[in-house]
Amino acid sequence: MSAAPQHILYLDSPTKTFGLGRCLGEHAAAGQVIALCGDLGAGKTTLSQGIAAGLGVAAQVTSPTFTLVAEYLGSRGLRLVHVDSYRLGDSPADAAREAATFGLEEIVESAAHPDADSRGAVVVIEWAERVAALLPADRLTIVLTPDGSPDARRAELTAHGPQSAHLLAAIQRD
Ligand SMILES: Nc1ncnc2c1ncn2[C@@H]1O[C@H](COP(=O)(O)OP(=O)(O)OP(=O)(O)O)[C@@H](O)[C@H]1O
Ligand SMILES: [Mg+2]
Repeated sequence: MSAAPQHILYLDSPTKTFGLGRCLGEHAAAGQVIALCGDLGAGKTTLSQGIAAGLGVAAQVTSPTFTLVAEYLGSRGLRLVHVDSYRLGDSPADAAREAATFGLEEIVESAAHPDADSRGAVVVIEWAERVAALLPADRLTIVLTPDGSPDARRAELTAHGPQSAHLLAAIQRD
């Protein structure tokens, strides 16, 4: 088995992180899952807001506070499903059980298919490490870590599966 394609970016401002997100949102197709990992304040929501912009979502995307899942319709007919796993149970087993109750796997499963309102969805999951057991085989994982100065982040993108590899290749071209 060949290694999953990987790409490392250095993002020296929130604007750069937002820009990476916008590029992802512009190139993502229905069914794409983007798994965001990184500590508090790493920049996951900033990246999610960029993805929303790239999908043409007009509404302001924030971290869902009480709801774990928020949905938006983008201008190209793709929905953004924004999941924040932070408030799920503390152990991975608890988190996976709670994620199962709101149907994370069904959300991911249905994302690839058009429905009455949309051409399908792009699913962005913050704190994806908490629900690792429920993630699909094909996903683009992005790990954000601090990188020296307060405004600098390192982003490690790993494409698991063909759809994610296609998206990663588009990002590398841009
Ligand atoms: N290069 C950068 N990329 C992203 N955010 C940055 C960067 N430099 C500084 N920041 C700041 O770090 C913070 C990131 O907050 P954000 O809500 O995006 O993180 P988060 O990972 O979603 O946090 P949480 O785990 O609390 O949800 C913002 O205040 C942002 O302005
Ligand atoms: Mg956040």
